[in-house]
Amino acid sequence: MKTMLITGASRGLGLELVKQYASEHWQVIACCRQPGQANDLTALAEQYPSISIEQVDILQEVDIQCLAEKYKQQPVDLLFMNAGAYGPKGYGFDDISTEEWLNVLHVNSVAPFIFIKYFLKQVIQSELKQIALMSSKMGSIADNGSGGSYIYRSSKAALNAAAKSLAIDLAGDNVKVAIIHPGWVKTRMGGPNALIDTQTSIKGIKQLLENLSLENTGSFVAYDGQLIPW
Ligand SMILES: NC(=O)c1ccc[n+]([C@@H]2O[C@H](COP(=O)([O-])OP(=O)(O)OC[C@H]3O[C@@H](n4cnc5c(N)ncnc54)[C@H](OP(=O)(O)O)[C@@H]3O)[C@@H](O)[C@H]2O)c1
Repeated sequence: MKTMLITGASRGLGLELVKQYASEHWQVIACCRQPGQANDLTALAEQYPSISIEQVDILQEVDIQCLAEKYKQQPVDLLFMNAGAYGPKGYGFDDISTEEWLNVLHVNSVAPFIFIKYFLKQVIQSELKQIALMSSKMGSIADNGSGGSYIYRSSKAALNAAAKSLAIDLAGDNVKVAIIHPGWVKTRMGGPNALIDTQTSIKGIKQLLENLSLENTGSFVAYDGQLIPW
């Protein structure tokens, strides 16, 4: 049985990832900040006993450390860093604040790599050896035609830069890294006007991961297979 460990499993894209992998008989370690409030995830875990729910706030390194200690003997085939934050919406350049910017950078750009650091051994011990990072096309500098969104854009651009290094550095251990744009998806973050639903996005992402190899590791790619310019 293959194992996926995922952050941000309470709702949106994370919840759908849990659902689609568990339904294909994967063991899923589903991390969320407040399990007591993650009703949809709890219902899914009742349906699929291969789902274990774990409390982790990715901003608390001690939470990650405790989880890594609990699962230190567990090979992790797919480590999926999905949790993310947008930060304040509808702000202009005059409104940016240090506190809000640093918080989003912590969630989107720093915490995923601290998490990976603690679970790298378990990934290397696994059969598939895959790491996926949920990025965004908004982190593409080449694709930025509309400006704004300073905080979110820069946080995903930083994620991309670090993920590319990780792909290069881990290729020698046969670890493959996918940097993924999920599409504009109807979730709490994407909003109701988004173009696709979570099922469509995750179906595409699963297919990408089935084709992830040392030949395409470190690519910045959309759920439908399109390469995104950096
Ligand atoms: N939806 C889109 O159109 C879109 C487009 C491009 C990229 N993305 C990316 O896709 C990923 C998932 O987003 P989504 O659309 O599913 O949004 P969402 O519904 O807002 O879900 C965000 C998830 O991240 C979790 N999270 C936030 N801060 C966290 C923290 N400090 N510790 C642990 N978990 C935390 C949330 O947990 P709580 O329930 O505890 O708040 C929630 O599970 C994000 O990385 C996002 O940037 C989304």
